[in-house]
Amino acid sequence: MMKQLHKASSNHHRRDEEIPTSQSSSYSPKTLKPTRSLPRSINYLFREQRLLFIIIGILIGSTFFILQPTLSRLGPSDPHSYPSLSFTRNSLDSSSSNFFRKHSFSGRVPAGIGRRRLRIVVTGGAGFVGSHLVDKLISRGDEVIVIDNFFTGRKENLVHLFGNSRFELIRHDVVEPILLEVDQIYHLACPASPVHYKYNPVKTIKTNVMGTLNMLGLAKRVGARFLLTSTSEVYGDPLEHPQKETYWGNVNPIGERSCYDEGKRTAETLAMDYHRGASVEVRIARIFNTYGPRMCLDDGRVVSNFVAQAIRKQPLTVYGDGKQTRSFQYVSDLVDGLVALMEGEHVGPFNLGNPGEFTMLELAEVVKATIDSSATIEFRPNTADDPHKRKPDISKAKELLNWQPKISLRDGLPLMVNDFRNRILNEDEGKGLI
Ligand SMILES: NC(=O)c1ccc[n+]([C@@H]2O[C@H](COP(=O)([O-])OP(=O)(O)OC[C@H]3O[C@@H](n4cnc5c(N)ncnc54)[C@H](O)[C@@H]3O)[C@@H](O)[C@H]2O)c1
Repeated sequence: MMKQLHKASSNHHRRDEEIPTSQSSSYSPKTLKPTRSLPRSINYLFREQRLLFIIIGILIGSTFFILQPTLSRLGPSDPHSYPSLSFTRNSLDSSSSNFFRKHSFSGRVPAGIGRRRLRIVVTGGAGFVGSHLVDKLISRGDEVIVIDNFFTGRKENLVHLFGNSRFELIRHDVVEPILLEVDQIYHLACPASPVHYKYNPVKTIKTNVMGTLNMLGLAKRVGARFLLTSTSEVYGDPLEHPQKETYWGNVNPIGERSCYDEGKRTAETLAMDYHRGASVEVRIARIFNTYGPRMCLDDGRVVSNFVAQAIRKQPLTVYGDGKQTRSFQYVSDLVDGLVALMEGEHVGPFNLGNPGEFTMLELAEVVKATIDSSATIEFRPNTADDPHKRKPDISKAKELLNWQPKISLRDGLPLMVNDFRNRILNEDEGKGLI
């Protein structure tokens, strides 16, 4: 009996054991035992090259995320693309952004990938040159923050941008520090005409020294690129003609104009020291006489003086014998040069000016021909330290920035006359009407 039972049980047991082998492969008890399932999942991964496809997928994904911010800075439609690019986004602190700058990528943009929008500060952006620069930066799609104390700048120069969400205006004096997260700083804040910079010389030198220091400090802190608008005045009354960037100048350090020309020379020194000592990416432009719409009326600069006088039917005042020479560049040419410099790879300094040279009397003749041929000329004694001649050698900018002015004086002058005529007719400037 016991034997029969045992036999029955062992038969039953054998039957149980036989079930899996005898059943179809759809049932697998191994799935209940994790330790024994591992080799099978690995086997699954290796089958049909699944693992290879997963690795390729991960590689493609990570390559895209690494390159995307860089590629997005390159603008295929932007004439001034960024040959060497940096990650200076707000979320990064200065050390990490410096790291990315040093390990930046370069190359052309694949079609369809847009340039990343930059956030740019323009100090002195409510002024003559600054407002035209802001227009250009906004029109190409960047965010612009203007810092201005409105000493010579005017809100009317920017009022057409007030509804634009990519534009901000801050009333601020650059002699005080300010903290903003930005990618680039165009530092223009400084009165540029003799009437204005001589009005408060101590303030002018403070703006050039403290203002430039503050903006360089900001550039260092947030890892922004910094462009200084210096001036041809750093050549003083030049003994070399035309002036190359290698010429060190002939400047009176204690004269009435020193707050401006020595101030700008100091600003250049500060910029180069921050570049060499703190690795700030610096660009220096030496701007020669520039004219165009939105220049201050009656600021003593020769083109605006002559144009305003001719429109008002007043005699054109010529200081000295009128044989001193200047070169005159139209403002859009300058703005193109500033942007090319900011986005190029060269520190400078670069002369930005129009090499066409005119005596003051020749300029008066062009103004007469453009506005009023019956205008008369009145001679007055010359001002102190007025340079006898000024003409830029722009071969360096031509070669390294691929830049040169396009607009001649005879073509450019009529472009500012309408603006001056309207403002003179309204005569609301300086009366606090806007
Ligand atoms: N226009 C030219 O022919 C020329 C020539 C050489 C150099 N530059 C340089 O280009 C820059 C712009 O010149 P511009 O012709 O447009 O002059 P501008 O006087 O029209 O503009 C200067 C701007 O800076 C602002 N500003 C002055 N001091 C300031 C301060 N402490 N804080 C904040 N804002 C301040 C003014 O309000 C103004 O908006 C200046 O740095 C000037 O030295 C101009």
